[in-house]
Amino acid sequence: MRKLLLVLFLLLLSLIVVQSHENWYATQTKDNWRQSLALGEEKSTQLHFYFHDIVSGKKPTAMKIAQTSTTNQSPTLFGILMMADDPLTQGPEPTSKIVGRAQGLYGSADQEKLGLILAMSFKFTEGIYNGSTLSIFGRNPALQLEREMPIVGGTGVFRYARGVALAKTNWFNTTSGDAIVEYNITVIHY
Ligand SMILES: *[C@@H]1O[C@H](CO)[C@@H](O)[C@H](O)[C@H]1NC(C)=O
Ligand SMILES: *[C@@H]1O[C@H](CO)[C@@H](O)[C@H](O)[C@H]1NC(C)=O
Ligand SMILES: *[C@@H]1O[C@H](CO)[C@@H](O)[C@H](O)[C@H]1NC(C)=O
Repeated sequence: MRKLLLVLFLLLLSLIVVQSHENWYATQTKDNWRQSLALGEEKSTQLHFYFHDIVSGKKPTAMKIAQTSTTNQSPTLFGILMMADDPLTQGPEPTSKIVGRAQGLYGSADQEKLGLILAMSFKFTEGIYNGSTLSIFGRNPALQLEREMPIVGGTGVFRYARGVALAKTNWFNTTSGDAIVEYNITVIHY
């Protein structure tokens, strides 16, 4: 009898343990989730800065990390993949104050017209935005005067952000490939 009780007790214990591991998700009602995520009022923020993509010289900020066997024959350099750590500055001059860095990948993803795919994190380093990031992911037809790319998320001040980035080439050296791009970003966050 004692043995049976012990077995039953152990069985119950193991059930409790198993059950506690099954709680790997939790759904909350609309009334509760805003509070539990510590979300404040929804607000919109505009950011304006310049992106410096330096691919030439002694201190490039973006470097080729991969390409396909046919990239060099492609009119759009299809398949080339770059890793960047590009400064973001207040003004267009290379000496202008740095407000963040654009870190991540861009590559040629269109075989006919120049179309880059951008997958980057914009990490800000100034003021209340210091340490916060925005994630940008989308197609960038870099030869077009104005481009629009989605902001798909963020961290820090920009938690749960969504928005749009507008980009316009400010300066481009066709010999070196170096470029300065003006960005206007509008994000909705909390
Ligand atoms: C940004 O944050 C880092 C890390 O906390 C700190 O070292 C740096 O001084 C800060 N920069 C500014 C401009 O506040
Ligand atoms: C950013 O906004 C300013 C002010 O409205 C405008 O002059 C500029 O052309 C815009 N740039 C881009 C890349 O959208
Ligand atoms: C463009 O790049 C080439 C090659 O690096 C350089 O010789 C030239 O001075 C650059 N032009 C400008 C306007 O910076």
